This record gives sequence, structure tokens and C-alpha cells, in this order.
Amino acid sequence: MYNLKVENDLGLSHQLQNAKVSKLISGSIKRKNQPISVAPEEDAPLFWRPDLFLLDRSTLYARLDPLRQQRILKHYNNVLISEFYFLEKSGLAYCAKMILLGETTETRQLYGLIAADEATHLEWITPYVDLACRTKPQGKLLPVLGKIIEDCDANSLYYLVQTIIEGWGMMTYKVMSKACQCPHLKAILKNVMQDEAIHHETGPALFEPEKITAQTAAFIYDRMKAYAEVLRVGPQTLVQCIEKEVGELSITELETLFDDIKTELTSHLKLQILKDLMLQPQMEQYVQRLTDENYIHPYSAAECAKIYQKTRNFEQFV
Ligand SMILES: [Fe+2]
Ligand SMILES: [Fe+2]
Repeated sequence: MYNLKVENDLGLSHQLQNAKVSKLISGSIKRKNQPISVAPEEDAPLFWRPDLFLLDRSTLYARLDPLRQQRILKHYNNVLISEFYFLEKSGLAYCAKMILLGETTETRQLYGLIAADEATHLEWITPYVDLACRTKPQGKLLPVLGKIIEDCDANSLYYLVQTIIEGWGMMTYKVMSKACQCPHLKAILKNVMQDEAIHHETGPALFEPEKITAQTAAFIYDRMKAYAEVLRVGPQTLVQCIEKEVGELSITELETLFDDIKTELTSHLKLQILKDLMLQPQMEQYVQRLTDENYIHPYSAAECAKIYQKTRNFEQFV
């Protein structure tokens, strides 16, 4: 029976007074012959270029002077890297819960090893995230994931997090590592991706679909919808970064922007990857229902613009 409460506190601060603890973390990582991360240099190139996000196709972006383009890109780069940071940070609470819920010695061992990986990933990525941003999660995935980690039983988590999110992480780190212009970060992301591939494989190895109850079935389906929704709405934080630089855009300008950066097409491709990750043995009917109810279908540029306008929130954006 599941009765363990864990809080996935994304706002958890870093202790800066006790240098010994930080030294012990890096010492432990070194001891395992793992690389140590260093803060990027002041003149380091931007991690990712505008064409990765199809920004080069936007007329609005093209009209801006290079300095403003650079500011938007830098801001968006920071938002993306901070999302990685919070995903790894969530991995700590998640693994703590999974170790305790493990019903066999091997399951607890496995999650202990995964926890060490996630702690290492976090240590590698942390120098790339400004201190002020390390307690302020952004984007639509993190709140969805946080709630899943806190609310779900182990078997649902083997599917929803271990299979789907670790798989999604593996794919994302692969793309972002390939496209990264900063050699040190590129190597870090590649290393993380290789670990995530093993983490992802753990999911199908542990998940037992026959153990799903009527109650957990409803929750799993609801969370699958929530994952799809995160992708259907397109790159909302990218648009937020643009607005932060150029000011509030009209609904027509927002529609053009979402259309220029091919939101519908890129969301469609991402949703197909998500669908493939969801398609595990005995989960076919869930994916079929999701497809039939139109959740594996991206919103149009006009719909994304409307959603953006409705949920626009500058206060929470750093
Ligand atoms: Fe990780
Ligand atoms: Fe992982």
C-alpha cells in the first residue's frame, strides 16, 4: 500500500556557507572517475544557435538588431539549461521515494545507483545556472512532473517517470548535446544522455501493467494527457523571452510568430516521439484513447497564441 509522502521542493536553496559539503560532493564525483564541471567562461559562445529553434525564420526576430537578438537567445538558452537543472533536481526527491518504495533488494540498489547519477548530473549542470535562477522553475513540464512524483504509487512511476520522462530526457539531451556550441557543456550533456538511456530502460523492466487498478488507470491517463498538453502548446517560454525584450505583442503578432517558427510542425514531431515512448506493451489502449481524443495533435499557431495570451505571466519569469 502506498503511504509515503515526498515533497519535490524545486525551490530548495543551495547552502553556500558550508564549503566542506560542496567539496565532499565534488570529491565523491572525482573518486568515481567522473568529470568535474566548471563554470562557463565570460566569453563562452552561446550554447545554442537561433536556427535550432527556427528563430531564423521569424520576421519579427530578423527585424531586431543583433544585440537584441543576442539578448533573446541568451535568455532562452538560460531558460532551457535551467529546465535541465530542475529536472535533475527533481530526480533527487524522486529517487529517494523510489528507494523506499522498492519491493526488492535489487530495486533499491538500482534506485540508489540512479540517485547517484542524478546527483552527478545536477552537479555538472549547476555551474551553468545563475544562482538566482536555481530556486525559480520555469516552463510547463516541471509542475506536471512535480505533482506526479509526489502523488503516484511506484508502479505508475515506473511508467510515467522512469519510462516516459527518462526517455524524453534521453532524446532531449541527445539533440541539445549535438547542437551545443560550447564544447564543455556539449560533453556534459552527452554524458548525461548516456546515463538517461540506462535510466529509461529501467522503466519497462520494472513496470507491471497488470497491477494497474481502476483508480491508478484514471490517474495515469490524466497525466499522459498533461504530458501531451505540455508539447501541444508549443515553445511558450521562447515567446516569453521575445516579449521580455520587445514588449507585449498583439494577438496577430503572436500568431505570426508561432507560425513563423513552425510551431505546429515541431509540436507534431515531438508528440510522435512522446507517443512512441508511451507505447509500451499493454499500454496500447491508453495511447489509442489519447489519439482518438485528439491529444496527440498539436495546437495551431493561432491556438498557441491564444493560450499564450491567456496565461501570460511576467512576474514569475526571470
Ligand atoms: Fe539525470
Ligand atoms: Fe535520469
